[in-house]
Amino acid sequence: MLSRRRRYIVFCLLWLSAIVLLKLLKSSPKDEPLDVSRGHASQIVLTERKATGLPKETGNDRMPIRVDSENEHAPEKLKSKMLRDEIEGLAERSKNVKVSIPSDKSKSVEKLNSQTKDKIRREVVDFNKISDVKSERKALGVKKQTQQENELKRRFPHIIMIGVGKTGTRAVYEMIQMHPAIRGPLKEIRYFDRNFNLGIEWYMGMMPQTYTWQETIEKSPGYIRSRDTPVRLLAAMRQFNRTRVRLVLVVRDPFTRAVSEYLEWKWLRMRTKVTLLPFDKLVLDKNGEVDINCPPINTSIYIYHLNYWLKYFSIKDFCFVSGEMIVADPYSEMQQLEQCLGLRSYLSKDNFVYVPQRGFYCLRNHGRSWCMNKSKGRKHPEVEKSVENKLRAFYAPYNKKLYEITGRDFGWT
Ligand code: A3P
Repeated sequence: MLSRRRRYIVFCLLWLSAIVLLKLLKSSPKDEPLDVSRGHASQIVLTERKATGLPKETGNDRMPIRVDSENEHAPEKLKSKMLRDEIEGLAERSKNVKVSIPSDKSKSVEKLNSQTKDKIRREVVDFNKISDVKSERKALGVKKQTQQENELKRRFPHIIMIGVGKTGTRAVYEMIQMHPAIRGPLKEIRYFDRNFNLGIEWYMGMMPQTYTWQETIEKSPGYIRSRDTPVRLLAAMRQFNRTRVRLVLVVRDPFTRAVSEYLEWKWLRMRTKVTLLPFDKLVLDKNGEVDINCPPINTSIYIYHLNYWLKYFSIKDFCFVSGEMIVADPYSEMQQLEQCLGLRSYLSKDNFVYVPQRGFYCLRNHGRSWCMNKSKGRKHPEVEKSVENKLRAFYAPYNKKLYEITGRDFGWT
């Protein structure tokens, strides 16, 4: 039998080791360089890769898929800030929409529960409340509606922007919604890849209310890389008796896009003290070859991901948008998109205002102007020329295949 004193010492020791163990568990590898190829891995089988013409990979036969994300990895504080920016930005833009953001700015958004956040998003996004719907309907040549047709309802999306992240998807999404016939939720809903467990009612609840003569759009740039999304989307379409959904894919020089995604990662990690390897190092494997498993590199192989979707959807369901053209001449590019989506031409040159300080076009509609968030248009780092050349040579054959299948030369060199 242990004496009382000994028992007390053993108890203290046990208690101490439990605390140390807990601390160790909590202090995850914060100071290690981040291996971005880890994470949400999904597997792609060999046959699939062969069918796409991808080269044989070294090592195992898997290609990790990181579901593309703007804020998935952001710390909670940052997410709240993003939400606040987003809500305030939109409230500012749509002055006559009453948004009840609690007045204590420092903590209020963090305190909101997710239902309230969703509610605010839904309220804020309702562009139908800010525009003169009647005159827009007339301008579109839509006849006077019966009361039933005029009913505002949340509808299953007619158009989905499935990617590609960091190509200008936000700009295209906001631009197309200046068209009165197009309405979409403010946020990326990411239902079919990320939030599927929340159920279709949740998804539908996130859609804006629209009239019968309007089309609902949704943008979730990670869908292009998600292996579950096409099948899930088809099933949902059946459920809503929808025979067709138009898919929009924005693409951009794959090298530049990869750098842009890298910067996004860096920004998201800013507050977590996790250091990211320099781009030059991250994208090459230990033999100095392009690391196909590195997500920013992998995502830019557009043809590979597109081919997967083409197993379920026809190329005719797609509209392709050039990320370069959206920067250089958004009006012409958006005219093409209007046409591809079968919309009556509506956007005019006046909707686009070049702002030299930003180096981008900003948007103008209903007497209000706004630019994209500052996270769009970051300064890209210098990449070693030899690495850039290697990456460009790597992408060249995939780009060629993409040009063939889309019938459009995007002009990447
Ligand atoms: P960079 O930050 O690398 O320059 P996404 O919205 O898909 O995340 O894409 C972000 C990219 O949109 C930005 O990439 C930026 O170049 C591009 N972009 C295109 N049109 C823009 C616009 N009018 N304003 C700001 N960024 C725009």
